[in-house]
Formats: sequence, C-alpha cells, structure tokens
Amino acid sequence: MFEQIERVPGDAILGLIEAFKKDTNPQKVDLGVGVYRDAQGNTPVMRAVKAAEDLLLKNETTKTYIGSHGDPRYGQAVLPLVLGEGSPVLEAGRASATQSPGGTGALRLAADFIATQLPGKDVWVSDPTWPNHLGIFPAAGLTLKKYPYVDAENRLDFDGMLAALKEIPEGDVVLLHACCHNPTGFDLSREQWGQVLEVVKQRNLLPLVDFAYQGFGEGLDEDAYGPRLLAENLDEVIITSSCSKNFGIYCERTGCLIMVAKDNEQMENVRSQVAIVARENYSNPPAHGGAIVAEILHSAELSAIWHEELTEMRDRINTLRRDFVEALKPYGLDQKYACVAEQRGMFSYTGLTPEQVDRLRNEFGIYMVRSGRANVAGFSQENLPYLAKAIAAVN
Ligand code: LMR
Repeated sequence: MFEQIERVPGDAILGLIEAFKKDTNPQKVDLGVGVYRDAQGNTPVMRAVKAAEDLLLKNETTKTYIGSHGDPRYGQAVLPLVLGEGSPVLEAGRASATQSPGGTGALRLAADFIATQLPGKDVWVSDPTWPNHLGIFPAAGLTLKKYPYVDAENRLDFDGMLAALKEIPEGDVVLLHACCHNPTGFDLSREQWGQVLEVVKQRNLLPLVDFAYQGFGEGLDEDAYGPRLLAENLDEVIITSSCSKNFGIYCERTGCLIMVAKDNEQMENVRSQVAIVARENYSNPPAHGGAIVAEILHSAELSAIWHEELTEMRDRINTLRRDFVEALKPYGLDQKYACVAEQRGMFSYTGLTPEQVDRLRNEFGIYMVRSGRANVAGFSQENLPYLAKAIAAVN
C-alpha cells in the first residue's frame, strides 16, 4: 500500500534548522525559526527555569498522570498571567485553562473543539499568518479564509483588515494575534483593538486569540491588552497561550487553551468538552514544562528573576531592531527598512522578496523564511555589518 505514498517537502520553517546546520560558511547567520538567541547566538536555559527544575528534581514525588486539563497549579498561574491579576473574567469564574503540548497543541485543541462543537463555522486568519495556522485548522476539518493584514508597501493594512472583518459571516471564528504578529511584527494599537472589538460584537464573531509571545513586545501586561479587552467585553473568547518563548522552554511543549464563556455554568460545559478533545488527541499533556512554569509563577522570588530575564530579552531585541536600521544607513537603505525598528516581537516582515531571500542564503549563508520573515533575535552586534552589506548586495 505504501508504494502509492508520495514524498512531500518538509516544513518550511523547521527545515531551515537542518539546512543551516549543514552550511559550512563560517559567516552564516540564522534568522529562521523563532527561538530567542543571546549575544553569543545561544538559546540558554533561563536562570529562573534552572532554579525551578532544581526544586522539582528535589521535591517531585510522582510521575502519575496529571489529567486532561493538566496541572491545576499551572492553570491557576497562567490564567492571571494572561487575563490579568484581579481580572473580572476570573472573578466571575468565566475562564477555564487546559494545559496543552505547546501553543500548537492549544491551537489544535481549539480547532477540534470548533469542528466538533460549533460545526459550520469557518476560521478567518490574517494574510499573512504563521504558516502552521494554514495546516492546523484544515487538519481538523475546518475551512480557512483570509483577511488582509499587510499592504503592498509592507505596512499594516488596518483599514483593509477592518473592512474585511465587517464582511465575515455572523458567528464565524476570527483568529487574531495578541501581540508580536507572526510573521510580520506589525501589532494593533489600543485604539485599533477597540475598533476590532466593535466589529466582533456587531458581527457576533468568535475571536480566537493566538498569544505565543507574551512579554516580547512591550511587556507582559501591555502585550495582553487585546485578549483582556476582548475577554472582558465579550461573552465568548478562545485564547491559545504559549510558554515556549517567554519561559524559553520550547522543547518542553507547554501551552494553554483558555476558554472564556458567558458564565461559570457555560464555562464548565465547554471545559468538559475540551477534556474530551484533549483525551482523544494525547490524553494528558506532558507535565514537566507546566510544573516549571507553576513553580516560577507561584514563587515571588523566581517570578522576579524571570521578569528580569524576560525584560532583558525584550530590550535586546528592540535594541537590535534599531541597530539593524542604523547599520543600513551607509547603504542608503535605512528608510526602506525603517519598519524593522517599528515592528515588535521576534519577527520582522522585512519586505525582502523570495528571490532576495534565496540570494542571501546561497551567496551569504543568511537563512530566513522565504516570505522575507527574519528572526530579529538572530541579529547581533557582530553580524549586523555583514547582514547590512549582504542586504545591500541583493537590493
Ligand atoms: C516560528 O514561527 O518560527 C515558531 O513559532 C516556531 C514554529 O514552530 O514554527
């Protein structure tokens, strides 16, 4: 039977990891997959995480199953992180947390929940969006549709986005990036979030907020403005949160599906269905990442260390954004790439074309996604002059 199976190309983002490893160019630069890098180009384990792991190793008493919703301590810690301390949504008991295998796992739970419990609803994503969104929802049997997000000049096309949202059929699902939009780095202002909320209300849409980069844009609370606004002003919201980036625990697969319902009764109904979806996918989530996060967030001391480290990472990225534009000045390209300093989060939609990206890879050993998305955390004071020279060469 297997003789009929065709080989397909691997994932475009994850494939860059292997391609980069194989490249022997000593000056090669990895701007591909979205992992944070420090000034030395490493992705170290955060100090708060190491300290939490030491405690876990010492105190762990069992490795029994943790249940389909995961570790309750994790859920109790993530809910206020995402929705805010003292959130009226939490006070009303309207929000449920389900620990998931990464943000991707949370998205798949959301997709299966929509497919099974809200049949007939299509899912609208920004154009462009994280390429894996394009796979996850159809894999659950859902139809994916797109609303515009970036214009031909590589700027946020908010008017186009809003006009398209106004045309979405009532009751459909609209996927919004909470912050650090992947792949563009263009985020909505507070005023724009307010306008989105109004349209979502008018059209009775169900927002699904992908929140994978909390703390990488402007700050933990600042980045949560959009999801909190929606959760506090709407009866129903789905949020998928990830601890991969802000805790640097990529390989531990630690995320959370947050379901916000009209009241506690409806939340419990929804929650019971999510447990079934999780059970049928993987039964229980992996425990270790959630235990690390719970250990940190339930300790004032570890939380303080974590905040400090996260602030360092965010500040480093934002400084590199400005330095990148500065490095292009001698080539007269600073205006052309000025957007990089304005965008937020790990990624920049640079405006480089797929052909330019290919040349950067083939001629200079610089790796990024063909859409022109660069992982800004891959910039460094050492490689910026080389990057600027290479970009000038392909312009
Ligand atoms: C990315 O977009 O590079 C990250 O979210 C990693 C991934 O899984 O694609």
